[in-house]
Amino acid sequence: DATHAEDASALIIGEHGYKHRLLDSRVMPPFITPTRYALSRRIRTRDSDICFSSYPKSGSTWLSYIIFLLTDSASARDTIQSSLIWVESSWTYLRSEAEVEAASEPRVFKSHMPYDMALGGVPAENKGRYIYIARNPKDVVTSYYRFESGKSWTGFYDGGWEHWLGMFVDGKVQRGDWFHHVLSWWEASQRAENILFVKYEDLKRDTTAEIRRIAEFLGKSQLTEERMTEIESKIGFEEMKKDKFSSLGDVKEFNQFFRKGEIGSWKDQFTVRQSEMFDQLCEERMSGSGLHFDYE
Ligand code: A3P
Repeated sequence: DATHAEDASALIIGEHGYKHRLLDSRVMPPFITPTRYALSRRIRTRDSDICFSSYPKSGSTWLSYIIFLLTDSASARDTIQSSLIWVESSWTYLRSEAEVEAASEPRVFKSHMPYDMALGGVPAENKGRYIYIARNPKDVVTSYYRFESGKSWTGFYDGGWEHWLGMFVDGKVQRGDWFHHVLSWWEASQRAENILFVKYEDLKRDTTAEIRRIAEFLGKSQLTEERMTEIESKIGFEEMKKDKFSSLGDVKEFNQFFRKGEIGSWKDQFTVRQSEMFDQLCEERMSGSGLHFDYE
């Protein structure tokens, strides 16, 4: 049909076989068709909705499990994949507009969009709560390279690290320019009370305090110490990797969702020269924003 033809025609095979599409002039995964993107923009959020977003490889699966545990919706359903609503993609089970409308509350929406392409239109003007998780870009580009290399189900990138780093810097990898993505949400979170900005490194280092902050944001500040301790015991890297609900073991191709789970694994990937170049770029693109990351 016409929609299908439009969707198919927008697919681009770029350098080193890297498949992608352009949506609103940004590089996006092939699986996000214009039709699904339009649907995600049309969603009318409700007070009880929880919508999280991130640049890929920034700890979104980790955050999603924390959200499910805090809202007690983890035990009710089988796995992360079957519990989430990811309107942009056909990865989760609820797909049609009617299914999304009828989903049980709280509806937990996943997205990897920058602020101006967010689920539901303009988050600051919407009902519901939005959480964005960001991670230092050196670890993001490293994790993303390992994740995308040679995979047939998404980008199918077969180039080398140096080339990937160049693509990332130029905003040519899926989800577009990292600086724009993260800064757009960072700036919005400074103004809007319904947007919480979380950093991967804080969650890793100061897990208890960060989970409390997320809990308060979700209106769950009354959680007992025991429940908090129980949640913490479940969301460690090794625990999540083993757990049936959180491991994504039902999605075989996704076996690299749990790679290292550390701060600073970029050191095994960047050369000294690349690291200096990247630091310089971060200085240029982020100075004055008030946003800082830990790199080790
Ligand atoms: P690495 O590749 O550096 O290990 P996303 O879920 O957004 O795709 O992010 C994936 C990254 O988060 C991977 O980073 C993965 O290992 C890490 N991660 C997943 N679960 C984690 C956890 N419980 N604790 C710390 N890091 C975790």
